[in-house]
Amino acid sequence: MKISCRKKIAVDSKKDAILIPVYKNIRSLRLITGKRIDDELQNIIQSDYFNFDEKESKSFYIDVNKKLKKIYIIHVPKEQEDARFYMELGAKTASIFKKDKICSFSLISFEDIYNEKKDFYITKAFLEGFMFSDYTYDKFKTKKSPEHIFEAEVITAMPKMKKYIDDNAENWDAVFSNINIMKDLINTPANHLTPYDFTQFVKNNLPDNISCTIWDENEIIKNNLNLLHAVGKGSGNRPYFIQLEYKGSPDSNKNIALVGKGITFDSGGSSLKPASSMTTMKTDMSGAALMYTVTKLIAELNMKINVNTFIPLAENIIGKDALVPGDVITSASSKTVEILNTDAEGRLILADALFMASKTDPDIIIDAATLTGACIVALGPYCAGLFSNRKFLSKQISDISWEVSEDVWELPLYEDYESGISSTVADMQNMSSFGREGGSIHAAIFLKQFVDNYPWIHLDIAGPAYLEKNHPIFGKEATGFGLRLLYNFIKTHYAEGVNERH
Ligand code: BES
Ligand code: MN
Ligand code: ZN
Repeated sequence: MKISCRKKIAVDSKKDAILIPVYKNIRSLRLITGKRIDDELQNIIQSDYFNFDEKESKSFYIDVNKKLKKIYIIHVPKEQEDARFYMELGAKTASIFKKDKICSFSLISFEDIYNEKKDFYITKAFLEGFMFSDYTYDKFKTKKSPEHIFEAEVITAMPKMKKYIDDNAENWDAVFSNINIMKDLINTPANHLTPYDFTQFVKNNLPDNISCTIWDENEIIKNNLNLLHAVGKGSGNRPYFIQLEYKGSPDSNKNIALVGKGITFDSGGSSLKPASSMTTMKTDMSGAALMYTVTKLIAELNMKINVNTFIPLAENIIGKDALVPGDVITSASSKTVEILNTDAEGRLILADALFMASKTDPDIIIDAATLTGACIVALGPYCAGLFSNRKFLSKQISDISWEVSEDVWELPLYEDYESGISSTVADMQNMSSFGREGGSIHAAIFLKQFVDNYPWIHLDIAGPAYLEKNHPIFGKEATGFGLRLLYNFIKTHYAEGVNERH
């Protein structure tokens, strides 16, 4: 969404509508709205018409220079400081505007209304919620919803606020363009996004400052990514491996490694899933979509940081060449794995990718994966599982998670549970002998065997990547979860010379 900023006053707006946050007993807004609007506002606020609930909005028309102008007022509580509240308000407003066919709007900044906020996070949160909600996936509908491109203009009287919006609006637009690409990829059905299709999409949608290497099946075998090959070999849609490299800080040897699970469809393989568990398994490449888009975003913003991204892609399907329970495979790291359940395939392809990541001598490895149903059982659908082999990293990412309203909660990597993955015939097994108990923990402990003790964060995004029930901010289906989280985490702790507050 294009966002601009203008110094007062609202009555000069050329947009379809003007949006004004108000609360009970608000002082005169004349200096920012203009007298014509303020007179009307005061009438309304003092009348019974203002008896609507907080978060609700109402609209009316006023006559400005013989033209009718549509004004929306939203009732907000003055004391509310939680960014999430304003994100929700923004999301709600976007759906109202869609319905009312409002494409462009002027928004009086919340900071101006409240007149006391030093960090400008409230208007930002509102716009972010708005942008989350500004998405539809209708590629396969013959009847498309009408093309709708929003444009927002923030109106402020505060020079610092204007500078803040002017400095950051383009970045926000870039963040949400990438969130929307991520959502498109996740929502795309598996017959339209095979591992090969994914590689082609990435190759054709990359900024020039990223180099991209794509390994086909032969190169996967040549480079000993045998676990990735094993998972992918049952399908006619063969496996691929993508490596992206971005050097935004060429003189520094500091670098981060990103790894994302790219199972374009997870039927469970020979350990076939029941039908009802399979219906959403086109989304099992959410980690891959996340790491691709976050890398692209970092490069588009020319962030001063070096990034290596690893994306293993396969379709986990039953077939004559598919893995069967009991098979033993030697991983890229040379450790051997007994495959007791072919539905625990994510950890297998990640193991080889994490090993590759560890070879780049990274300052941190971050992986994201729709790894376990057990994580949804533990934390519910809206929250990701967080695992790390460094205490300070879980603290840092949890803090950012709180700031961006994308929830993660730490789960432990207890050594006592390592016995769960010990195998009688190989170095380890891919399913825990604890059965379903602590399923996400055992999956994470399996991954830990392949990161060579480099600082590491694992995000199990099985729940929040794709929602079957509506969420007030993130909506339904693909959510784009994780992109703002990782972008802000990387920006705050790994990129050089960054100054935006969030
Ligand atoms: N892709 C699934 C996990 C998943 C489940 C993601 C539901 C999103 C929603 C993963 O590959 C899987 O099948 N995990 C198994 C592991 C088990 C066999 C040890 C699971 O969670 O049941
Ligand atoms: Mn599976
Ligand atoms: Zn899976």
